[in-house]
Amino acid sequence: MNRFYSLLALLTLVAVVGCSSAPETDAERQARWAAGNLNSWETEHGIGPVTEDIQLAAVDPAKAASGQDIFIKKCATCHYLDHKKTGPMLRDVTKRRSSEYVLNQILNPEQMGKLHPDGRKLVAQYAQFMTIQGITRENADDLLHFLRSEADKPALPAEQQPGFGTPPPPPTN
Ligand code: HEC
Repeated sequence: MNRFYSLLALLTLVAVVGCSSAPETDAERQARWAAGNLNSWETEHGIGPVTEDIQLAAVDPAKAASGQDIFIKKCATCHYLDHKKTGPMLRDVTKRRSSEYVLNQILNPEQMGKLHPDGRKLVAQYAQFMTIQGITRENADDLLHFLRSEADKPALPAEQQPGFGTPPPPPTN
């Protein structure tokens, strides 16, 4: 009889371990996020298309320059590096946040603002969601090179901010 119970315990253990290590489907992950149930990696690195640690290459000046162009076209409407605008200033964002977090914020701003604890705080603080359209993964990588290349430089006066003078977006509510 004892042997039977040991076997039962073992089988139960195998079943539990087996189930919990089955890969989560996209639908399961979405449901978990919607329920506010983020794991510790997601709390630190954000939610979105980037789900694991990335290996960072050294800053590439060509990619940083391309990132600056994209920043001026798509981000300066709401962000300057050293001055608050519609959104937070971004000079030191790659020091405050992991690279994975920054990529997820750029590629998945809506869910970051609705479902991530830090994103929700920022949305409340700035009374605005971050909305952008037409950003590819390659654009986001270039933006990350740009932001990393700026992180250790001194703050600039307002009129030298990349994209200075770009009008802010109309208020949304
Ligand atoms: C329509 C305005 C708007 C645009 C355009 C915009 N953002 Fe934002 N961004 C915000 C707001 C508002 C927040 C704070 C609320 C939030 O996190 O959603 C924010 C937050 C962020 C954060 C998180 C900052 C932190 O301290 O955690 C990053 C990084 C960021 N934006 C990068 C970008 C980049 C890069 C672009 C261009 C591709 C961009 N944003 C375009 C409004 C905008």
